[in-house]
Amino acid sequence: MIVLGIESSCDETGLALFDSKDGMIGHIVNSQHDIHSKYGGVVPELASRDHVLKLVPLLDQLLSQNKILLENINLIAFTNGPGLLGPLLTGASFAKSLAWSLKIKAIEVDHLEAHIFSPMITEKELKLPFISLLVSGGHTILTLVKDNSNYKVLGKTLDDSAGEVFDKVARHLGLAYPGGPEISKVASNISSSSYIFPRPMIKTDCYNFSFSGLKTHVTQLINKVELNDSIIEDIAYDFENSIIDVLISKTLRAAREYNIKNIVITGGVSANKKLRMRCDAEKGKNKIFFPNIAYSTDNGAMIAYMGWLKSSEKSANNTLEINPNPSSRFI
Ligand SMILES: Nc1ncnc2c1ncn2[C@@H]1O[C@H](COP(=O)(O)OP(=O)(O)OP(=O)(O)O)[C@@H](O)[C@H]1O
Ligand SMILES: [Mg+2]
Repeated sequence: MIVLGIESSCDETGLALFDSKDGMIGHIVNSQHDIHSKYGGVVPELASRDHVLKLVPLLDQLLSQNKILLENINLIAFTNGPGLLGPLLTGASFAKSLAWSLKIKAIEVDHLEAHIFSPMITEKELKLPFISLLVSGGHTILTLVKDNSNYKVLGKTLDDSAGEVFDKVARHLGLAYPGGPEISKVASNISSSSYIFPRPMIKTDCYNFSFSGLKTHVTQLINKVELNDSIIEDIAYDFENSIIDVLISKTLRAAREYNIKNIVITGGVSANKKLRMRCDAEKGKNKIFFPNIAYSTDNGAMIAYMGWLKSSEKSANNTLEINPNPSSRFI
C-alpha cells in the first residue's frame, strides 16, 4: 500500500510517500520561515496562502522525483489538527479532493500522535509501551503510551511550551526565528557559562512543566545588560541547559516510576543536538529513541506513517465529511 501524507498545520508544507512494504519512499518539506521571520512568529493568513501556492507543485515534485504516479497512491493521510485552522483547511481540502478524484480513502491524522510515533519510521527495534516526551513549538507533554490508541498523559506544560520559550528568548536576544536552532548554534560556541538560571519545577513530584518563569527571568536579564556576542552566548548556553535539564530529569523519573525502559523524544525541540547528546549518556539504563532529524520538526513523513498505522483500525473511516479541528483530540 502506498500512502500519501500531507502536513499543513502551521508553517511547513510537508508531503511524503510511504510504502507499507518498503518504508518511506520520499518526503519533501517547504518551510515558510523566511515569510514569518520578520514578524517573530507565524502569521496564520500568510501561512494559509503559502500552503495553497505550494501544495500542488510540491506533490508534482515528490511524485516525479520518486517515479510514482498519482494512480499508484492507495490512501491519503492528512493532518486534521491540532494547528492553525486556515493552514489545516488548505491541506485537508487538498487531501479530500484528491482522494475523491482518485476514488481512494482519505484518513485524518492527529499531528501530535504523528510526532509521538515518528521514531518508529526508522527505529525498527522500538516497541510499545514507551514513555513519550513530545516537545515542540506548541506542546510539552509527557505521556505513557501503552499502544497506538491508549495514552495516559502524565504531565504537560502549565504555560509556554519549551519550543515557544526558545523562540521568545531568541527574539529578545536578537536571533532569528525559529529560535531553537539559533540558540543552540550560539550556545555551542562555548563550554561553560557565568549564568546559572533556574530549573523550573525540576524537583516537584508531578510531571508538569512550566517555562514562562524562566522566560521572564532571562528576558529581564537581557533588558538589564548591554548585549554583545559573548553575553548572548553566555545566556544561550545556560538557558538551553536549563530546559534540557528539566526535560531529561522528568522524563527519566517517569520511566523509573512506571518501570518502562523505552523512551521516545519527539517534536521540533527533539532536533536539539545537546539534548540528543545528553540522552546518549543515559542509554544503558534506558533506551532513548529520537526521530530522524528530518522528522523532528513538522513533515509529511510522520503523517503518512501514522495514517498507515491508523488505516487498519475499525474507526479509520473515509473522512471526506470531517472538517479540521484546531484542538487535539487526544490531549
Ligand atoms: N535544534 C533545536 N533546538 C531547540 N529547539 C528547536 C530546534 N529545532 C527546532 N526547534 C524548535 O521546535 C519548534 C518547532 O517544532 P514543531 O515544528 O514540531 O512545532 P509546531 O508544529 O509548531 O508545534 P506542535 O507540533 O506542538 O503543533 C520551534 O519552537 C523551534 O524553535
Ligand atoms: Mg509539530
